[in-house]
Amino acid sequence: MRIAIVGGGYVGLVTGACFAELGHTVNIIEIDAKKAATINAGRAPIYEQGLDAILKKYVGERLNAGIDYAPVADADLSFVCVGTPPAADGSADLSMVAAASRSIGEALRDGERPHTVVVKSTVPPGTTAGTVVPAVLEHAGRDDIGFAMNPEFLREGRAVEDFLHPDRIVIGSRDGRSGDTVAAAYQGLAAPVVRCGLTAAEMIKYASNALLATKISFSNEVGNVCKRLGIDVYEVMEGVGMDHRVSPHFLAAGAGFGGSCFPKDVAALVSLAESLGEEPKLLQSVLDVNDRQPLRMVGLLEERIGDLLGKRVAVLGLAFKGNTDDIRESRAIPVIAELLRRGAAVAAYDPLAAAPMRRVFPGIDYAASAADALRGADACLVMTEWPEFSDLNGAFDLMNSRVIIEGRRILTCDGKEGICW
Ligand code: UDX
Repeated sequence: MRIAIVGGGYVGLVTGACFAELGHTVNIIEIDAKKAATINAGRAPIYEQGLDAILKKYVGERLNAGIDYAPVADADLSFVCVGTPPAADGSADLSMVAAASRSIGEALRDGERPHTVVVKSTVPPGTTAGTVVPAVLEHAGRDDIGFAMNPEFLREGRAVEDFLHPDRIVIGSRDGRSGDTVAAAYQGLAAPVVRCGLTAAEMIKYASNALLATKISFSNEVGNVCKRLGIDVYEVMEGVGMDHRVSPHFLAAGAGFGGSCFPKDVAALVSLAESLGEEPKLLQSVLDVNDRQPLRMVGLLEERIGDLLGKRVAVLGLAFKGNTDDIRESRAIPVIAELLRRGAAVAAYDPLAAAPMRRVFPGIDYAASAADALRGADACLVMTEWPEFSDLNGAFDLMNSRVIIEGRRILTCDGKEGICW
């Protein structure tokens, strides 16, 4: 099939590359000409395991990137994969989705080739039917266009693996034929297909992320109680997770969830619920627990070393999770802000994420290694589960005092304390 992908970010680029891997002809439409050129050079502008190899295989042949919407006219499917960042009030900013819809409509104007527009961006339930469909039809001047909603369940860093080995493929559609066309694009992937309406598909995505985030906040709240009881929450959740109705995944207690999805999507669902006259107490508490959790690190630190004014604190790990340079909603951000508010000096280290964090906190020290950050420090907070941190035992001896608190279960050294273990 011929597929156009609007938006060459981590969802669009992975989707386009994997569709090329499945045998389709793919055109990625990017607003950023430099990003398009990078893709056409067979290089991924983002780090995703296995992505460069796929790009190199197909660029110039059946995978191309450009800034023009013309390829939409000759395509069977166009996927909307643009960002939906949080607006100030927590709701999703849909301006890029609306702009992409208008441009797709323009590209389809006066055409006769059957075409289905598929929304893959994470959008509030009701968006595809209420915003995308009218925008496309108005600008296309024709009404023989199909519509579908096909959410992604890609984890950053594992996106290629998650695309090619999904637990399920969700296809919401306005009519059977549109859904069948999208299902045909995924031929060759061995995964169950869920067929439903447009709005149900949008809600499956939001509810999935909200439930995963709920599992994390639940584990953290249980962990906080376990710590007071002197028991290990990891032992507890291992026993809980063996129930097949729970599953052992996403029960790892720690400093909370970050990333570009969980915080944004749960907040958008809260905002949507409130706009519909609901009071989403549980979802709001998932966010409240997540906001408070990282600050417990600073509270524990003050219990151990007293007033933080003038103390030097090493912060190991700045990315929102290991193996990425992405600091969006990283739990290290509220921790560093609170340390500075209490007058501590911060020495930060992260294998990949120092550069982006420097834009958030230009005034703190950035060490070239964990050892450099630890040297002379009065305490250490570990915020990201980088594998190299599990081998730091000797480096901790460089500290003035060996006060070590981990927000992720990663250290193997003696004398450490966990945020909730
Ligand atoms: C998430 C969803 O997993 C994915 O399906 C969706 O499409 C996008 O959002 P991602 O944000 O890339 O993916 O990261 P993920 O690996 O899910 O971790 C999210 C955050 O939760 C990280 O900060 C991680 O440290 C934290 N986390 C995860 C926990 O604190 N405990 C856990 O058990 C799992």
